[in-house]
Amino acid sequence: MAIKRVGIVGSGIMGAGMAEVAAKAGFEVVLRSRHEATANGMIAAFEKSLAKQVERGKLDETERAAVASRVTATTVLSDLADCDLVIESVVEDLAVKKHLFSELDHFCRPDAILATNTSTLPVVELAVETGRPEQVCGIHFFNPAPAMALVEIVRPLVASDETIEAAREFAEHCGKDSVVVADRAGFVVNALLFPYLNNAVRMLESGTASRDDIDTAMKGGCNFPMGPFALLDLVGLDTSVAILDALYDEFRDPNYSPAPLLRRMVSAGRLGRKSGLGFYDYRK
Ligand SMILES: NC(=O)c1ccc[n+]([C@@H]2O[C@H](COP(=O)([O-])OP(=O)(O)OC[C@H]3O[C@@H](n4cnc5c(N)ncnc54)[C@H](O)[C@@H]3O)[C@@H](O)[C@H]2O)c1
Repeated sequence: MAIKRVGIVGSGIMGAGMAEVAAKAGFEVVLRSRHEATANGMIAAFEKSLAKQVERGKLDETERAAVASRVTATTVLSDLADCDLVIESVVEDLAVKKHLFSELDHFCRPDAILATNTSTLPVVELAVETGRPEQVCGIHFFNPAPAMALVEIVRPLVASDETIEAAREFAEHCGKDSVVVADRAGFVVNALLFPYLNNAVRMLESGTASRDDIDTAMKGGCNFPMGPFALLDLVGLDTSVAILDALYDEFRDPNYSPAPLLRRMVSAGRLGRKSGLGFYDYRK
């Protein structure tokens, strides 16, 4: 396939996970973080994760060395100039992503595909920030990226068939199942999932049942691997509010309007696993 070198912008939960998936699939990966300390920290965490996989017998030493050698970190956007595909995974904020797409358009090769890992934002608005709108699409991984089987390929109105096909091939080469979805907020999975998560918070607020009982009920009653509060903590409560806001903006359906408790928890800095405290406490 034509894609060999992949740039990833953003070194949060998803950027790190996608870098691991792509490097293991044999792609050269350039990971861009804004700060040197984060970039170095990412590489250290990545190497630690590979070492653990060797310990558990999931990877042999030769594979570990090969995967590690395929990932480099940088703080400089122009280091993505040689990439065939760049996937951005920065904060879920349209203004930030728009600005980033205009910068990527400036620095990246004219034939490179520019993709976003956004969960909900309109991909077409990012495409039109560039001089190559037909080469822009969504490549939406799930969290944690190394473990989750699905990637949604999001097709904005302006994307070419070649771009969508290349994105699909990339996802499949990464060992993922892919589905192609129209450019509507939430695509398939989050449009269906987030009303459920949001209503679980409302149910907690109204005193119907406790956090633990709601989580236990949904695991035992629906055979879900985790309950809604454990899942919200995994996604990140700030990201969850941003996703719900974008869904509400698009559809004006009250089920998408974030429950007040979610916003209050974000204001209090309780963001879930990534901050150590969310609906559950991860600091011990
Ligand atoms: N968390 C999930 O479950 C999940 C799943 C799929 C997709 N996503 C999407 O992936 C993207 C990243 O989410 P995440 O969960 O990794 O978030 P995160 O909070 O872990 O990381 C966000 C990254 O964005 C960077 N950032 C913040 N402000 C910035 C700015 N102004 N300019 C450039 N970079 C900035 C941060 O430094 C960090 O590296 C979002 O678009 C989100 O919707 C998230």
